[in-house]
Amino acid sequence: MALAERLSNLGTETAFAVSLAAADWAAKGNRVYPFHLGDINLATPANIAVAMNRAIADGKTGYCAAAGIAPLREALAHDVGTRRGLSYSAANVVVQPGGKPVIGKFIQTVMNPGEGVLYPNPGYPIYESMIEYYGGQSLAYRYVQTATGFAIDLDHLRSQITSASGRVTAIIYNNLQNPLGCESSAEEMQAIADIAIEHDLMVLADEAYFEMRYSGESTSIASLPGMFDRTVILYTFSKKFAMTGWRLGAAVGPVAIAESITKLNTNDESCTTHFVQSAGVEGITGSQEGPLAILAELQRRRDAAWSELAQIDGLVCPKPESTFYLFPQVTDLMARLGYDEVGAFATAALHNTGVSFCTRKHFGRPQPGEQDHFVRFAYSGLSVDDIHEGLAGLRTWANS
Ligand SMILES: Cc1ncc(COP(=O)(O)O)c(C=O)c1O
Repeated sequence: MALAERLSNLGTETAFAVSLAAADWAAKGNRVYPFHLGDINLATPANIAVAMNRAIADGKTGYCAAAGIAPLREALAHDVGTRRGLSYSAANVVVQPGGKPVIGKFIQTVMNPGEGVLYPNPGYPIYESMIEYYGGQSLAYRYVQTATGFAIDLDHLRSQITSASGRVTAIIYNNLQNPLGCESSAEEMQAIADIAIEHDLMVLADEAYFEMRYSGESTSIASLPGMFDRTVILYTFSKKFAMTGWRLGAAVGPVAIAESITKLNTNDESCTTHFVQSAGVEGITGSQEGPLAILAELQRRRDAAWSELAQIDGLVCPKPESTFYLFPQVTDLMARLGYDEVGAFATAALHNTGVSFCTRKHFGRPQPGEQDHFVRFAYSGLSVDDIHEGLAGLRTWANS
């Protein structure tokens, strides 16, 4: 059977391969600690589930507007705007079945085939996949390690623009970063905004973790001067409300782009599930006790995971104030244990300790010149006790 050629450009979340390896190891009767998948094993707040059931009972089970139901668009315009010091109206908001669809729809809207789009690498792997699937030039920009975490290599980013063979149309910017857990300084965010303005780039601000932070306050690049009209925000209910499987998110940005994405919605899924949108209104406008409790639990998990990893010799682990990921450098640890390939190291960790995690290779194509090795621990899917138990085992193995 001959499948369409464009499929050869489509990437995937290779982290799912790690899930298969972990499931295989568990099926053989072994205990597995699943630090590989960025899912949350906490319940969606009850008021949201009640609102969904009420919406079904009220008959909100048919098609609805492609851009989303008015109460949700209005609630999101107000909430997303207020938290960023911006003024959006419902016309700026297009509801999506999750945050992820915003990535492909943004690219289809702003990028012609052959044009370049900058994206973070290591980063969420769907950026690279979608740019290449829609025939664009994927222009990876990299990060450097700092004393406290990671920073964007701005010189490398600029050189990617000047060396691109075609026009560069957009930049994807994921502040509060998966997998690095890092965030931009004010200067770094301003530099990205300056570059976007200088080169007339549209910006996809992936703000999936905007409210997933344990101290300080998030800032959106959309709120910097000159950025409102060139920025589309990716919003999701997945993390804040522990609603990963509900599939609810939104694109928030300039009206012309919102209209184009609405047209894509009509062609792709018609609309996002009606009663799930009603539940989303409750999430945004109802009691905020649930999301606060989720965040407090994630902070306890962050502290547990970080305190265990910090005791492993040869592992260097920043302590992020946001997201639910830790991204330690394991170069010296691997050398001490006799591994020179990070996948082999991850497999050995799984087989010796049951601890399953992703490696740098799951977050975009590795770039020329990369020498250090990194792995990612997602602590959102394990209890504090399981985190301690699993990582204490990893520590015993690693320090032996
Ligand atoms: C950086 C980033 N963006 C977007 C998403 C998409 O999440 P969802 O489609 O569940 O909203 C994720 C999910 O892990 C993510 O880490």
